[in-house]
Amino acid sequence: MHIRILTAADVRAALSMTAAIDAVGRAYAQLSTGKATMPLRSRFHTQKGVTLLMPAHLHDSGDFAVKIVSVYADNPKLGLPTVAATVLALDPQTGMPLALMEGDSLTALRTGAAGGVAARYLARADAGNVALFGAGVQARAQLQAAMAVRKIRRVWIVDPFESAARRLADDIAGWTDAPAVSLAESPQSALVQADIVLAATTTTTPLFDGNDLKPGTHVTGVGSFTPQMQEIDATTIRRARVVVDQRDAAMAEAGDIIAGKAVIDAEIGEIINGDKPGRQSDDEITFFKSVGLAVQDAVTAGAVLKSAEEKGLGTVIQMS
Ligand SMILES: NC(=O)c1ccc[n+]([C@@H]2O[C@H](COP(=O)([O-])OP(=O)(O)OC[C@H]3O[C@@H](n4cnc5c(N)ncnc54)[C@H](O)[C@@H]3O)[C@@H](O)[C@H]2O)c1
Repeated sequence: MHIRILTAADVRAALSMTAAIDAVGRAYAQLSTGKATMPLRSRFHTQKGVTLLMPAHLHDSGDFAVKIVSVYADNPKLGLPTVAATVLALDPQTGMPLALMEGDSLTALRTGAAGGVAARYLARADAGNVALFGAGVQARAQLQAAMAVRKIRRVWIVDPFESAARRLADDIAGWTDAPAVSLAESPQSALVQADIVLAATTTTTPLFDGNDLKPGTHVTGVGSFTPQMQEIDATTIRRARVVVDQRDAAMAEAGDIIAGKAVIDAEIGEIINGDKPGRQSDDEITFFKSVGLAVQDAVTAGAVLKSAEEKGLGTVIQMS
């Protein structure tokens, strides 16, 4: 038996954002037709933090993996990150381990890809202006994914930590086909221009007033992950057609959906499968909420492994 070990650099080299968007679309499609096994994530509390176990198996594509995510607040004192994830990909035929991969890079890829899938089906075809709330790892991935599905010409970054916003703006300026990027003076100044609003922050209170959204705007939110956290206000929820990654997860975990008393119109998988329409008019405001699902990890891990095998990435260890 052997296992392939993939570092963060290997994961990033293995899969483009476009390929990740295709993969996550396949996961959502299977999930919404009952072709996925995905138990609720288990939480193990220890003295210092919490460790989550996220298993999923996709029946059609055969992707099978478990992600382990630890959130330990005191880690920075030890020179370690607060959040650390690892993914174990398994063979669905035999249950044997196939690969162990660094999970933070995979999480950014699959979370960005979720936003990319949503923008592909819900943003206007001519959407070119982005308001980007947050300047961290996930915000960066959200923008990369929007760029993979739409011709993005301008980006306004909204983040109270100016140094983080400036760092991301400098980084974006060096990308191939980089959009023009500036730091927004206020949330409102970014929203009046935006065709796509991407929220990937750690805020617990709404980022903007939904009255400032232009007709036709698409909004994606990936930040809030507890009933107490809200990135998106109730006005946006009221004005928008609401689409989620999974109804049960969104109703249980997403403060935006719960506090906004959202009427969920569709799962994104239902739109991919053609059971529900994508964007219905140029004026429609759409909101996609992703809380993050293990099926995204399983399918992205499967695609990363396939590509890594083809490209000879990683280190193969003989286990027995
Ligand atoms: N939905 C998913 O699948 C998924 C996956 C991974 C992470 N997340 C969540 O996404 C969020 C962002 O994660 P990250 O790794 O990028 O974190 P990060 O710490 O790297 O970045 C968060 C950014 O949000 C900014 N921010 C905080 N309050 C803000 C406000 N009011 N307005 C604008 N910006 C604000 C911070 O300054 C920071 O730059 C977290 O809540 C994380 O738990 C979701």
